[in-house]
Amino acid sequence: MCGIVGYVGLQLASEIILDGLSRLEYRGYDSAGIAVISEKGLLELRREVGKLRNLVKDVMTNPLKGNIGIGHTRWATHGRPTVFNAHPHSDESGKIVVVHNGIIENYMALKEELKKKYEFKSDTDTEVLAHLIKDNYSGDLYKAVHKALQKVHGAYAICVIHADHPDYMVAAKNSSPLIIGIGEGENFVASDVPAILNYTRDIIYLEDGEIAVVSAEKADVYNLAGEKLSKKVSKISWNIASAEKGGYEHFMLKEIHEQPSSVAHALAGRASDADGKLYLDDLGITAEYLNTVKRITILACGTSYYAGLVGKYYLEKLARIPVDVDLASEFRYREPFVDDKTLVIGISQSGETADTLAAIKMVKELGAKTIGILNVMGSAISRETTGNMYIHCGPEIGVASTKAFTSTIVCMYMLSLYFGQLNGTINAEEIRKNIVELKTLPNIIEKVFDIEPAIKVIANKLANYKHCLFLGRNYNFPIALEGALKLKELSYIHAEGYAAGEMKHGPIALIDKDMPVISIATESATYEKVISNMKEVKARDAIAIALATEGDTALKEEVDHIMYLPRVKEELSPIVNVVPLQLLAYYVSLRKGCDVDQPRNLAKSVTVE
Ligand code: AGP
Repeated sequence: MCGIVGYVGLQLASEIILDGLSRLEYRGYDSAGIAVISEKGLLELRREVGKLRNLVKDVMTNPLKGNIGIGHTRWATHGRPTVFNAHPHSDESGKIVVVHNGIIENYMALKEELKKKYEFKSDTDTEVLAHLIKDNYSGDLYKAVHKALQKVHGAYAICVIHADHPDYMVAAKNSSPLIIGIGEGENFVASDVPAILNYTRDIIYLEDGEIAVVSAEKADVYNLAGEKLSKKVSKISWNIASAEKGGYEHFMLKEIHEQPSSVAHALAGRASDADGKLYLDDLGITAEYLNTVKRITILACGTSYYAGLVGKYYLEKLARIPVDVDLASEFRYREPFVDDKTLVIGISQSGETADTLAAIKMVKELGAKTIGILNVMGSAISRETTGNMYIHCGPEIGVASTKAFTSTIVCMYMLSLYFGQLNGTINAEEIRKNIVELKTLPNIIEKVFDIEPAIKVIANKLANYKHCLFLGRNYNFPIALEGALKLKELSYIHAEGYAAGEMKHGPIALIDKDMPVISIATESATYEKVISNMKEVKARDAIAIALATEGDTALKEEVDHIMYLPRVKEELSPIVNVVPLQLLAYYVSLRKGCDVDQPRNLAKSVTVE
């Protein structure tokens, strides 16, 4: 998830673009760049690594003249945050420059072809577009972009300018968001509303497959068949703050609602339901190496640790390799058995968590190979490990992790299928079937939002209690732990997650009429066991709340409150079942007037011990 801004008009393009990018930094902030055409044929391009302020300083020192330009703030997915991987990317002549948000799924295949004619300067998927447009260019930029996009698969929002055409830019969209801002004698292109709200409230929303030719006077929109479209101009009433949250009240609620698309992004370009294969070469794990692995150790903290617990179930089932999951803060101070036959997986959204980083450094000393399941490219842990798998969920601003959790579990599932593919413990047809089911998750998660009002009602009741227990079994035991952590960190209610089978060994002593107990009772091999556990707590007057699979009417009689969820196979149910628990914690926190996005005593990335 990156931020794009384009401008054409009478004002200084660099000023408008840099201001717009500053309002899109929540979308990505590891590098930035700008390109401006000062006069026909003279295009200047600037790129800097790090926060946008580095680029602003550069342009302040050496101002850019010109009334047309494009800019970008990056969230790296392909190629580390470096100057060469920062956008805009240009073709060999330097006349065509492109900014892009999204993932070109077939970029490797396109690059193989284009490499025969053009020299590539970056590791990005985006640079392919610059050369592809050049390859189709014969004087008309719109036609070149149109032809190029016929060959492109994946998600993209792009804006393109050509040094020989200082009067218009071309923008196109497929699955990633892109809007056009209509001004007086000037027009704008942007990834999102906050970037241009200072200049106009008249917005055209581009739809998938649409291409726009934007000049200072007008914006013409065409579909991929080349037919001109008449587009509605919408008037925006939001202020900038709420716009950055996409109209949601908090980043956390926005990020919960982003999960259908973030899960889709996690899968994009890496899991093919056509040939039943996983493409995770960036990890640098070969079948030969995997055959030498005697044990996998997963290291993480907090929510990432719980994602690791679910990952253990997947790896042991699908790749048939023994797995330990350790809290990094504990692991690094005990004398664990680690050697060159141990593969260590570090899981971290931020990639900066001190305990996980130190534990990774420690196992490398002991001879283990290390890989990272991370969100932030270029982070400290990503530089320590030998290979990384990025979860591609975009920046996560809310301190309480939500979309990073579900995308990490999806990646752990893909990793397990990949290891099964490498060591032959699972065949291509089984892999293909599992990928088909994985790809149904975005729609299934979308449906969970239908019960949001019901969750809010339960949350308003739950907010009156001081304690709460979460129960789960098998794949959903870690989800009970995560549900409790979300409620704890957001509402400050003392919540505990437990393996339901553990209740009789102690925690059941806590149960009375003042103890809400939330059971994850969706369809599963241990369903009957979960039901009897629920009956045990109900028999002691607990307030029984259940997550259930739609259609399970019998359960309704057993509980005080029930949340019905769409059917999904048990293995994948953790990715769906955690969503109502995220919403529950959100609405309890709201009800109690807590600071949802920045809960007390917490930090988004714990870089100290
Ligand atoms: C989760 O909501 C918390 N913010 C916290 O537990 C977090 O998961 C933990 O600090 C690990 O962070 P990481 O994934 O960035 O390493």
